[in-house]
Amino acid sequence: MDIREVGVVGLGTMGAGIAQVFAQAGLQVTAVEADQDALKRGMSVLDASLDRAVSRGKLTEDERAEIAARVRPGAVSGLAAADLVIEVVPEQLAIKREVIAELDRVLRPNSIIATNTSSLSVTAIAAGSAHPGRIVGMHFFNPAPVMRLVEVVSTVLTDQQADRVVTALARRLGKTPVQVTDRAGFIANALLLPYLNHAVRLLETGHATKQDIDLAVTAGAGLPLGPLALLDLIGLDTSLAILEVLDREFGGTRFTPAPLLRRLTDAGRLGRKSGMGFYDHPEQAAPAASSADQSADLPAPSTVTLIDPGNGGTSNGEAAAHSERAAELASLIAAAGISVTRNPVHRTDLAIVAVGPQGGVLGPATAADRAADAVGVHLAAPSLAELVPSPLTSARALGLARALVARLGLRSVRAADRPGLLVAALLYPHLRDAIAMIGDGYATSSDVDTAMTLGCGYPRGPVRMLADIGVARVEAVLGAMYAGYGDPAFAPPPLLAQYAAGGLSPLAAG
Ligand code: CAA
Repeated sequence: MDIREVGVVGLGTMGAGIAQVFAQAGLQVTAVEADQDALKRGMSVLDASLDRAVSRGKLTEDERAEIAARVRPGAVSGLAAADLVIEVVPEQLAIKREVIAELDRVLRPNSIIATNTSSLSVTAIAAGSAHPGRIVGMHFFNPAPVMRLVEVVSTVLTDQQADRVVTALARRLGKTPVQVTDRAGFIANALLLPYLNHAVRLLETGHATKQDIDLAVTAGAGLPLGPLALLDLIGLDTSLAILEVLDREFGGTRFTPAPLLRRLTDAGRLGRKSGMGFYDHPEQAAPAASSADQSADLPAPSTVTLIDPGNGGTSNGEAAAHSERAAELASLIAAAGISVTRNPVHRTDLAIVAVGPQGGVLGPATAADRAADAVGVHLAAPSLAELVPSPLTSARALGLARALVARLGLRSVRAADRPGLLVAALLYPHLRDAIAMIGDGYATSSDVDTAMTLGCGYPRGPVRMLADIGVARVEAVLGAMYAGYGDPAFAPPPLLAQYAAGGLSPLAAG
């Protein structure tokens, strides 16, 4: 079936972006909104996006004019000739069903209706239609003109032909379709939202500052946006709605919305769309300005003591990993012209404990009689150190540790001394969820990685990240998080345990 004319019903930010994508692919678009004001707002979002493309040299003025001319404002009653209509109206089942009932009255029986729902069941939307077979989920990602993923969602009611047409259309739009069945959150949101929710929990429980949470993910894992900045982009209300659906479908602490997310939403701090969320907008969210980075007002110490955390009760592998970490840190410090002593009795200004992602500063610091001036340091990524004070660490020692890592040319975040510290506490449960989804048989590892790279701009998908970091390491940290928090949501899932036991790469395991 050749799709030439389309309708976009609902011209909010996503609807306007989707209309742009259709028009850029040469389709005639009728844009429908509830009233003239909303239509005007939607068209101005589209115009601004096209202007931006022209100013960045992505489109010529002529191309811009051609694309704009393909988008005509209209009404549902004017959609009789449309081959496909996508609804992007507010995420309320009653509103969506009303729109679909109107479309059912106007469209030819073989026209397709797509829904961009991110939080409702496509099946429930379809079940209200006179022709449920033609209803397919077509889930775009924000910003729609940029993100290359479209999740194509078929239900038990969907005609295969409709699914095929929407999949082919997504390709024609320059997107990569990933076909899924109708399950809450599909692939990307079911993985993204619990991770974002966990970031809010870490903030509200005082685990880290918002800037450090975001920097931990951008500098520590290479993702394009930190979780709190991403919540502001998606919208806190939208995120809350998706979490509530996930919570109802799957249950468990990963999906139970963090109280702070609910409070901010109640307060109308919805993110970019309301001018304020975790950050103020249009002011740029600035994860670069880490609270830990700003503090280098103390001079870096000239000598530091490297405390041996001791290997009591740990395996040979852990002891070797500890020695490696300590040696790496010692050589970085020495290369910066700072002398390192391993003798705790030698009174230096700062003592550091080369901790791993499982933390553990207080014990070794106390054993070395350096509780007040010891700070844990973990090299979480090539350019990022996690600084881990114990409850007894003085503010001065923490300041010196910041100055030290700044001298090493590293950025730093402060992490509470809890299993996972900050980067792994955010990232590893996210990788865990991906493996659990694959283990459930909902998606393949390749679909998971495609969804997260093309839908959310990850440089590497979760499965690739897991393979690169090492299954055994991730399993060990998750095990420590499970033991430390008692939350089964952190327990390594069976498939991860199988990879670890068999020494298998999750990539090879398909
Ligand atoms: N409209 C059109 N184009 C846009 C745009 C917009 N709103 N925002 C950015 N762009 C374009 C820019 O023009 C630029 O294009 P070129 O490189 O071709 O010149 C490109 O995107 C990069 O933009 P910037 O340089 O301004 O900014 P950046 O490098 O910081 O990238 C970003 C911005 C693309 C949004 C990037 O931060 C990113 O990939 N973030 C992840 C976004 C994400 O995770 N989205 C999914 C959210 S979940 C979802 O949407 C599903 C749901 O149901 C909730």
